[in-house]
Amino acid sequence: MEETPLSYEEAINKAAGSLTRFPLTEVQGVPLMSPIAGQWSSISAFCPDPSDLLIATYPKAGTTWTQEIVDLLLHNGDEEICKRAPTVERIPFLEIQAPPPIPSGLQLLKFMKPPRVIKTHLPIQLVPEGFWENKCKVIYVARNAKDNLVSYYHFDRMNLTQPEPGPWDGYIQKFMRGNLGWGSWYDHVKGYWKEREKRNILYLFYEDMKENPRREVERIMHYLDLSLSDDIIDKIVQLTSFKVMKDNPMANYTFIPKIVFDQSISEFMRKGEVGDWTNHFTPAQSQMFDEDYKRQMADVDIPFRTSI
Ligand code: A3P
Repeated sequence: MEETPLSYEEAINKAAGSLTRFPLTEVQGVPLMSPIAGQWSSISAFCPDPSDLLIATYPKAGTTWTQEIVDLLLHNGDEEICKRAPTVERIPFLEIQAPPPIPSGLQLLKFMKPPRVIKTHLPIQLVPEGFWENKCKVIYVARNAKDNLVSYYHFDRMNLTQPEPGPWDGYIQKFMRGNLGWGSWYDHVKGYWKEREKRNILYLFYEDMKENPRREVERIMHYLDLSLSDDIIDKIVQLTSFKVMKDNPMANYTFIPKIVFDQSISEFMRKGEVGDWTNHFTPAQSQMFDEDYKRQMADVDIPFRTSI
């Protein structure tokens, strides 16, 4: 009989010597952390159960927030049950791979019975076919490009397994060219947008969630065919506020040791705002970014907001 994998925290400490800022390797033209690319055939062969739910995002678009909302909705707002384990163990990250004995997303999933909630950052064309064949529900969360970029920049500073972000100005260029882990933000948000009706994807915006969290929690609830009382919905909104999640050790990623997430450089729960990009972009950078944005987004009309 196989042993249950170690917890993330224990395993990361054991693997300390083999952890590094992994380079990116392309899979079908999309740059991914090299350990993910190395296991690509088993990742793409993953077959979910029809009852499994996928939460898909470009990195730093509000994944953890949405994971917490979904977990609470599925457990009728029971705060204690939702503190049973850190996010990464409650809702495995499908494609994540790291040196042993850190459990991969696939290993964690093997030990969980459906219905499972699964996280991915894969662009739609790389999502394992089984999700579409089995008509799994998919929640996609998108965040406006400038705030998403700022958040990813700070994340790459503190996540010591991601490539070095380098200087801010160069990071903007990398983002615009799609030279970051999981590739182009532009292709990512467009890919899911174009397929959202055909594939019954619930497409959410971070800005809408900030503006009116209750409305968006209810949208998710309806999509999941759940019906919770008003009091429970209020409780979920409160438990998933930035402030409360920042202090929740099962949701704020303090369970990841400093050798991977160095929160003294930048906290995982950093600001949680719309419009922080104005504190980072110079007027010239903003203009250059906007001109390029128009070109890259010319074929779609996705209602992103950079302020609320
Ligand atoms: P900032 O870096 O702008 O603060 P992800 O979970 O996809 O990695 O996204 C992380 C971003 O979502 C971070 O953005 C983080 O602070 C923000 N976030 C996490 N929980 C949040 C919440 N409850 N409300 C608002 N923003 C949240």
